[in-house]
Amino acid sequence: MPMLKIFVGTVYGGALDVAEQVKPLFEEAGYQVSIFDQPTLDDLVGSPTDLALFCTSTTGSGDYPGSLVPLTNALDETSPPLTGLRYGLIAMGDSSYGETFCGAGRHLDELLAGLGAQRLGERLEIDAMETFMADDAALPWVEEWIETQQLKVA
Ligand SMILES: Cc1cc2nc3c(=O)[nH]c(=O)nc-3n(C[C@H](O)[C@H](O)[C@H](O)COP(=O)(O)O)c2cc1C
Repeated sequence: MPMLKIFVGTVYGGALDVAEQVKPLFEEAGYQVSIFDQPTLDDLVGSPTDLALFCTSTTGSGDYPGSLVPLTNALDETSPPLTGLRYGLIAMGDSSYGETFCGAGRHLDELLAGLGAQRLGERLEIDAMETFMADDAALPWVEEWIETQQLKVA
């Protein structure tokens, strides 16, 4: 069974909740799913990752949540080649923060692409100003992502 890893960056737990809500959709699509809420580089590259989903909120002024910093620092510092990694990205933020809206998700996307990883489809950006329950946006997006990217394996 292929392995789908969900890498979470969260301060208050919203992004982790999204990860847990979408997990069954990937299981139904034929994946073994692991959620990493304190992800490290080894979680990403130390064992096969057939597909990755990054799900992160933004804190501070466009900053990564602390739980994601060990991974993003390691990516920055060691620049591992991520060619062959296919991923999706869910960024959570609040447009009232203006220019730093979804800053963490946007920076992570650039970082991954710069290392050769391939994003499948568009990034989802969930705006807390518009969407009270992030799951309401994330669940249909994941269903469509699996469908349009033909990710179903079972
Ligand atoms: C102190 C603080 C700073 C924030 N800074 C930003 C920001 O710069 N840009 C943004 O889009 N959202 C920002 N947010 C909004 C959060 O990213 C948003 O509420 C998100 O849904 C929280 O998800 P979480 O529960 O996974 O941490 C901030 C929230 C807080 C409390």
